[in-house]
Amino acid sequence: MHKAQESRNRAYAPYSRFKVGAAVLLENGAIVEGNNQENAAFPSGLCAERVAVFHAGATHPKVPIVAIALTAGSEQHVNNHPIPPCGACRQSLAEYEGTQESPISIYFMGEQGNVVKAASVKDLLPLVFDRSYL
Ligand code: THU
Repeated sequence: MHKAQESRNRAYAPYSRFKVGAAVLLENGAIVEGNNQENAAFPSGLCAERVAVFHAGATHPKVPIVAIALTAGSEQHVNNHPIPPCGACRQSLAEYEGTQESPISIYFMGEQGNVVKAASVKDLLPLVFDRSYL
């Protein structure tokens, strides 16, 4: 979570002023970070969680993901409540969980305060669409 907070501070979020940081812990001990990257053409931006897991996939292919820590906060007000990942990011996390033997733990927080742990992406995204349907 400390790494996620560091990454959140480097987020590029000039439009929403809502900064999100993510840190992915890999089975080999590496920690890979990501944060939200916005764009003047709004849909061209990307969430922190996907920047982080795609970063991990690009730099450590096939290394299982143990956990991801998330923190989010607005520049307008303090967020003390845990903020969970959006649906699209849950889908992207499910893709990686589906390619490895072990579940991915998701730890999420607001800007500060309590941290919630989900033991598996399955807990956040039941009835997932996955490769078995293709
Ligand atoms: N955002 C994330 O980075 N992760 C989420 O799970 C939800 C939203 C970003 C996208 C956008 O840059 C800003 O937060 C406001 O939606």
